[in-house]
Amino acid sequence: MKTLIIVSSTYLGNTMKVAKAMAQELKATVKCPKEVTESDISSYDLIGLGSGINFASHNKEIISLVEELDIARKKIFIFSTRCRPILGSYHKKLKSLIAQKDGILLGEFSCVGFDRTGPWVGMNGYNKNRPNSNDLFKSALFALQMRKKAHPLSAFKKTYTPLLTYEGLPLRSDGINEVVGNVVLLNTSRCIACGKCMKSCPMNVFTLKDNAKTPLPVDEMNCIMCGKCEKECPADAVFINETFSNGLRILFRESSCDKLQKAYWYK
Ligand SMILES: Cc1cc2nc3c(=O)[nH]c(=O)nc-3n(C[C@H](O)[C@H](O)[C@H](O)COP(=O)(O)O)c2cc1C
Repeated sequence: MKTLIIVSSTYLGNTMKVAKAMAQELKATVKCPKEVTESDISSYDLIGLGSGINFASHNKEIISLVEELDIARKKIFIFSTRCRPILGSYHKKLKSLIAQKDGILLGEFSCVGFDRTGPWVGMNGYNKNRPNSNDLFKSALFALQMRKKAHPLSAFKKTYTPLLTYEGLPLRSDGINEVVGNVVLLNTSRCIACGKCMKSCPMNVFTLKDNAKTPLPVDEMNCIMCGKCEKECPADAVFINETFSNGLRILFRESSCDKLQKAYWYK
């Protein structure tokens, strides 16, 4: 998934730190508003927009950019750093603008950042050493959620029922994409058979069967939802169905038999 993170971090670079943590998780490109063109918006699948909070909203640079761009039907997430402990309605302006311009807002993130302006000068600054490593860890986790939400297969299972099976796995189709699996969904129409899912999976879920062109999630019942295959897949062809019942399945298998222990092979 091609992700572009647009960040305006004008005061101390606080929001840039958050943007970089997110970009690392998403393998995203980071640009400042001045570098962004219309063609960037159309060529990326997911867009992140962030800045420090300036006078109770995202800063002018980000707001003006969104006013100018065509973001209709684009998948977007927003983020900020701020001084105040509570976010309150600081994201309201940008959120309303995105809604007005028919963008699809997938989520929002904010954390505190160091501020040594106005009333905080007296105490030599507020939120010292923030964002810290914990804030950046949370930023990366948020980014991971955004990747899941924006994934082309995120709604596939809910939308299509399996009418056929392929190599013993349920097969769903929307006419263009043929997707196998229930826990580990693999889009055989998009898969480029690079084998990265096989190499990255510590549970040996994938097998390349003799008569199949692509690796298949034959042992998907052993999937522990670590997400390595999904992250590694360069074609967005693998998606882990992170449901509560799948979590329970792992818990029960873990306590009732040694199948997971036997399958696990740390690479
Ligand atoms: C001009 C200015 C206005 C600010 N206004 C607010 C505000 O209204 N609410 C708030 O919580 N923090 C406010 N802050 C603090 C910043 O949002 C905070 O320091 C942020 O982490 C800066 O991010 P940056 O370094 O990426 O620009 C303001 C800071 C500046 C410099």
